[in-house]
Amino acid sequence: MKGTNMSTTRIFPLTALVLVCVVGGGMNAGCRSDRFDKPPRQLLPDMDDSPKFNPQTATEFFEDGRAMRPGVQGTVAFGATSDAADALRATFLREDQGLYAGRDASGAYLARIPSSVTVDATLLARGAEKYNIYCAACHNYDGYGKGMVGEQWSYPLPSFHDPKYKAGATEEVVDAATGAKRTIAAKTSLDGYIFDVVRNGVENGAKMPGYGHAIKPRDAWAVVAYFRALQVSQDGQVSVDVPAEKRADVSAAVERANRMFLDKKAADAKKAAEEDAERERLEAEKKARKNNKPASPEVKP
Ligand code: HEC
Repeated sequence: MKGTNMSTTRIFPLTALVLVCVVGGGMNAGCRSDRFDKPPRQLLPDMDDSPKFNPQTATEFFEDGRAMRPGVQGTVAFGATSDAADALRATFLREDQGLYAGRDASGAYLARIPSSVTVDATLLARGAEKYNIYCAACHNYDGYGKGMVGEQWSYPLPSFHDPKYKAGATEEVVDAATGAKRTIAAKTSLDGYIFDVVRNGVENGAKMPGYGHAIKPRDAWAVVAYFRALQVSQDGQVSVDVPAEKRADVSAAVERANRMFLDKKAADAKKAAEEDAERERLEAEKKARKNNKPASPEVKP
């Protein structure tokens, strides 16, 4: 008798616990942040779903069927009026096609960095910083296209020192109507095109991703300026670009570097030849051993 009483008192709290779990669990299911396939329970639905129009949606309420209302006639865009105390204001409208899209009024790429961007040492330093962050992984620090990611990329990378990217490069086009040939500036030589590549990538990002999300227009011009500086860096001529009193030093350094390069090349070639010879020797040895082996009984003639 005593034993039965004890088990009843133990069972009761257990049942209560299970009940609380089941009922409580049922009430909780479908609440916010729970994973559940039914619509969530809403205690105060009007606070969750307030009646409003999403951008660009249609409505029957207005005669033109658009939920979004056109601007009041004569409205002056915020960025269109200058305000000395608010220098940022002029940047809101983004009306300057040259600065923000790298194109002129007719939509053609600008040949040069627009005059609203001052090219100076600060801009170049900024361009170098952004280039080294966003471009060097593929195009490498020197622009030859042998970056760590670039070597593994699905499209072969160009070298920025290819003449077609140099300012002033031209290409021939055939006029579809007359068949006459014309020489025009190569698209790839235009600063506006390089700007566009930085912001939007190549072929809509299919070949090269665009970096417009990370490199704002002024910084993109800084990258273009640095891109040009990289090109010049590979085209230097001691007799032209170096001050007279430094030419001897620079020439000696260039000679030293060339010698080191040639020495290393010769050493690499010697090592490769030695490795080849060793491999051949081992193979010959293996072959000789095989030929000398007495024919095994399993081998059929
Ligand atoms: C993820 C790799 C990758 C990164 C990062 C990258 N590029 Fe490229 N880029 C490519 C590839 C691939 C191509 C070649 C596309 C093609 O075949 O036309 C290319 C082509 C280019 C071209 C030549 C476009 C043409 O029409 O010939 C320029 C200029 C260029 N990149 C500049 C940049 C600059 C500047 C940055 C940094 C903002 C950058 N790239 C970052 C992969 C990359």
